[in-house]
Amino acid sequence: MSEPLVKEYSNGEVTIVWKPDLCIHSGICLRGLPKVFNLKQRPWVQPEKANSDQIVALVRECPSKALSVKGVRFKEKDNSDVKVTLIPGGPILIKGGATVTERNHKQVHRETVAFCRCKRSRKFPYCDGTHAQPKED
Ligand code: SF4
Ligand code: FES
Repeated sequence: MSEPLVKEYSNGEVTIVWKPDLCIHSGICLRGLPKVFNLKQRPWVQPEKANSDQIVALVRECPSKALSVKGVRFKEKDNSDVKVTLIPGGPILIKGGATVTERNHKQVHRETVAFCRCKRSRKFPYCDGTHAQPKED
């Protein structure tokens, strides 16, 4: 079995470690620091285009841990009040507060949010209860 690909990019102060196999393509890095993370440039990661604090703060937001900073261990945030439940045959229910970034990049905070999994909701990506109705032929 071949070793997973790992690449490193340094600005002389901090070294970004990139594990492409873990990336879920959220685009958070591309939107957050577009001069550093840009698919149109080679290499696509150019850490010298931001200061080290900005880089560390951005890498912390990578949801998949495809990005990390060498020698930096991020303390996990305590989100134990947030409960995520997969409703059988229904939505993913999040209780306890979530900030959702919608398609237009607008951020909406909701105490309870239900994401549709059946893809039949008229309010997709939010559940509108359609999953409980019989499917039309
Ligand atoms: S933030 Fe992380 S998961 Fe999202 S695109 Fe960048 S590397 Fe991939
Ligand atoms: S899961 Fe409820 S409408 Fe899709």
